[in-house]
Amino acid sequence: MPDIGKTQATSPRIVLGIETSCDETAAAVVREDRQILSSRVLSQIDEHQPYGGIVPEIAARSHLEHIDRLVGEALAEAQVDMAQLDGIAATGGPGLIGGVIVGVMTAKAIALVHNKPLLAVNHLEAHALTARLTDDLPFPYLLLLVTGGHTQLLIVEGVGRYVRLGTTIDDAVGEAFDKAAKMLGLGYPGGPLIERAAATATAAQRARFTLPRPLFGRAGCDFSFSGLKTALRQTIASLPAGALSDDDVAAIAGAFQDAVADVMADRASHAIDSFLTRHPSQMTRNLVVAGGVAANSALRTRLTGVAGKHGFRLVAPPLALCTDNAAMVAWAGVERLRLGLTDPLNFAPRPRWPLDPTAPPAIGAGVKA
Ligand code: KG4
Ligand code: ZN
Repeated sequence: MPDIGKTQATSPRIVLGIETSCDETAAAVVREDRQILSSRVLSQIDEHQPYGGIVPEIAARSHLEHIDRLVGEALAEAQVDMAQLDGIAATGGPGLIGGVIVGVMTAKAIALVHNKPLLAVNHLEAHALTARLTDDLPFPYLLLLVTGGHTQLLIVEGVGRYVRLGTTIDDAVGEAFDKAAKMLGLGYPGGPLIERAAATATAAQRARFTLPRPLFGRAGCDFSFSGLKTALRQTIASLPAGALSDDDVAAIAGAFQDAVADVMADRASHAIDSFLTRHPSQMTRNLVVAGGVAANSALRTRLTGVAGKHGFRLVAPPLALCTDNAAMVAWAGVERLRLGLTDPLNFAPRPRWPLDPTAPPAIGAGVKA
């Protein structure tokens, strides 16, 4: 039996985290006292760029090629050896299954050889708990999770305890940014490129196009982005044939980002109402924004406004901890380890893994959980 960790009196637990669920190969060492001892992230963007999106097979092979080295580097930088670790955490899903398998198998091998507990971490839970690593937030808090694969509003009530208030009925918001960037000929990944182009747009340019705000003002906290994407395509098609000018790109990127920010602000304010209905006497009121899209500063500004209006504080982890990384996985591992929530070595990687399995699918929902 692996030794499942320390008691309160001993030194803080140390967990190795491994992240391979998408297009970043990452390894990190995090300590229970919220110290990130090391965090290595290797982006595969250059490998996927020629294809305009992530190719799962290329991703899995690349994870396999690099993960051992990254784990070694993370341990060396943290000045920790395997024997000092209290647990081995890896993203166990959801994600591209080939990559998840690489990370889980690596973690299992280390756990087995060094007789350490395995922690199979839900990637979404890792994003969700990051604010406790960075800001030591108490439960419950409201979470807007915005990544390339997910767009959800959740109440985080405890480790493993989530109430999903809303989700996307079609595309994820990061996916919408990526597709918009592709249509505008900006490249991949789209979010930062759209943000950069939008930042160059003047007020007059932004007002040149009006794009729809799907589900804006409607009851509930669900999202939809496919109508916005279609409108964007039609807007581009309505312009004179030939290459888009830099002015066109800036104007459309600005209009797109404004539409997304409006929708996010509206949905978040509905979620705040739901949170307060469920937790009326909650004194510390925090709205956390997590996931890659949380890197968008226009979005953060809008959310800060919405939060402030309702007496909430917007908590946005630093950019390096918003996009995929292994420190968040290691931290979720720390949280689970101290509750004794370890996993058997026959844990099966999960392509889908909803945070709130009791939540009904959003009306019209496709594959997004
Ligand atoms: O959380 P993440 O790193 O990976 C997933 O789990 O999906 O999120 C990646 C997504 C991509 O769609 C990327 O375009 C988007 O986050 N993103 C942004 C920005 N930076 C990254 N979207 C909008 N604005 C940004 N600055
Ligand atoms: Zn992610």
